[in-house]
Parts: sequence; C-alpha cells; structure tokens
Amino acid sequence: MKTLFALLAMISISASAAPFDKGDAKAGKALHDKQCNACHAARFSGDANKIYTRADRRVKNTSGLAQMITACNANLGNNLFPEDELNLAAHLNTTFYKFK
Ligand code: HEC
Repeated sequence: MKTLFALLAMISISASAAPFDKGDAKAGKALHDKQCNACHAARFSGDANKIYTRADRRVKNTSGLAQMITACNANLGNNLFPEDELNLAAHLNTTFYKFK
C-alpha cells in the first residue's frame, strides 16, 4: 500500500507533464523482461504483450496502472522499490497504454 501511495503522489506532483515521465522507461523495460514477462506469457499462450494489448485489458487509466503494478509486484514477493515501479509504469505507458 505504501508504494501505491508513493506512486500516486508522484503522479499528482507531475500532473501537468506526461504521466510517469520521471520514470526511466528503459530501465523499466529491462526489469519487465526479467521479472514480469514469463508469468504473463504463461497466461497468454507465450505472448507476454497480449496482457496489455487484449481488447478487454483491465487497466483504464494511470492510477489503475499504478495499482496493477503494485498488485503484481506483491505477487513477486514485494521486492521492488517505488522507483522500480515508476520505471515499470513509464515503460508500460510509453509502449502500450499511452495515457496522457
Ligand atoms: C505470478 C504471475 C505474475 C507476475 C510475476 C506478474 N504479473 Fe502482472 N498480471 C498477472 C495476471 C494473472 C494478470 C491479469 C489479471 C487479470 O486479468 O485479472 C496481470 C496483469 C497485469 C497488468 C494489467 C494488464 C491489463 O489488463 O491492462 C499489469 C499492468 C501488470 N500485470 C504488470 C506487471 C508487472 C509490471 C509485473 C512485474 C513487476 C508483473 N505484472 C508480474 C500475473 C503476474
């Protein structure tokens, strides 16, 4: 929960700029490839990107994205820092969600 609030606070601080623009999307992608892809791929017959591109994807806005990252981080045993979550959000938003 703490990391979620930290992430939401970072979003509202940078409200006028692009969402998650304080995050490092490149670092986020590297981390995502390492920690997130395999489990998502296993659920979508090998195509890890599908979880973000399917028509009925769950994330609808920036706070939903921050929440989902925190939830999946918890699945991993909570070993990521808020900065990591911000980097992941930057990567996922730049690549898939494109929230403004
Ligand atoms: C142990 C398995 C597992 C791991 C590891 C995992 N996820 Fe997920 N993730 C899921 C499942 C299952 C869903 C789909 C939930 C649903 O559709 O109800 C999901 C969905 C998501 C979504 C929402 C996609 C949508 O529908 O818009 C995001 C964002 C996400 N994960 C981010 C991450 C990130 C970032 C990581 C790595 C830190 C990660 N996940 C690691 C299982 C995992």
